[in-house]
Amino acid sequence: MKKIIAFILTVALMCAAFTGCSGSDKKDEGTTAAGKTAADIKAAGKLVIATSPDFPPFEELQSDGSVVGIEIDILNMICKELGVELEIQQMDFESVLPGVQAGKFDLGVSGITANDERKKNALFTNPYCLAAQAIVVTESNGIKTKADLKGKSVAVQTGTTAESFCMAEGYKVNSYAANSDAELSLVNGKVDAWVIDDLTAAEMVASYNASHDDKLVILDEAMTTEPYGFATKLGNDDLINEINNILKKLLDDGTIASVFEKFEAPYTKP
Ligand code: ARG
Repeated sequence: MKKIIAFILTVALMCAAFTGCSGSDKKDEGTTAAGKTAADIKAAGKLVIATSPDFPPFEELQSDGSVVGIEIDILNMICKELGVELEIQQMDFESVLPGVQAGKFDLGVSGITANDERKKNALFTNPYCLAAQAIVVTESNGIKTKADLKGKSVAVQTGTTAESFCMAEGYKVNSYAANSDAELSLVNGKVDAWVIDDLTAAEMVASYNASHDDKLVILDEAMTTEPYGFATKLGNDDLINEINNILKKLLDDGTIASVFEKFEAPYTKP
């Protein structure tokens, strides 16, 4: 009797193992499905973007809960061309690319630098502008050049190219989920400098200095060259091609440059 039960159990286990295998085979077939197309977006009637709206003049949260900025204007134009609504999902910057890679959102729109490292895990549009990292210090803390930063502590936003740049430079890096907290740690003297993209540095420093006596200063040393693009999940080639076509038109006819002008930001064409 015991032998029969043992035999039945063995057969049952083998069956379970076998169906387990065939189940995962089916799953593998599923992942080879084609990516999102422009037609999919049109059928859904909306383009869902992921953004960290703490990055003026590109995307900034207003007191009424709306998000405005250069990239929001550009995305509204893209959506108009596609004939769809723009849906904005807000999150910390460090969640934007992982969410896009997992296909939770159609497009990452967050002043994202399209670099080779990121291109391994996400598909980017052609760049629409160039930026650089800038060093922000307080007027009084004695740091005058990039060389003075050796061995010093620096505040950055988590998951940004500022963070990887500062780590590679060997600075003591303090990372903050929100840009405003990185700025605050410089203001409060917790760090010696704050490293952030140049146009955002200019905007945030100007608004800080307008209401404070202890001024912030941007060092006159541009580091890195960073092309900004919009990101989507790998495999969404059709969608990205369509957006690239629209972007090309907006770049060629001067519309993108005029959006920068509207936000009083200097424009560097890629
Ligand atoms: N350009 C930098 C990067 O891609 C910073 C972007 C930060 N964006 C934001 N919305 N806070 O890492």
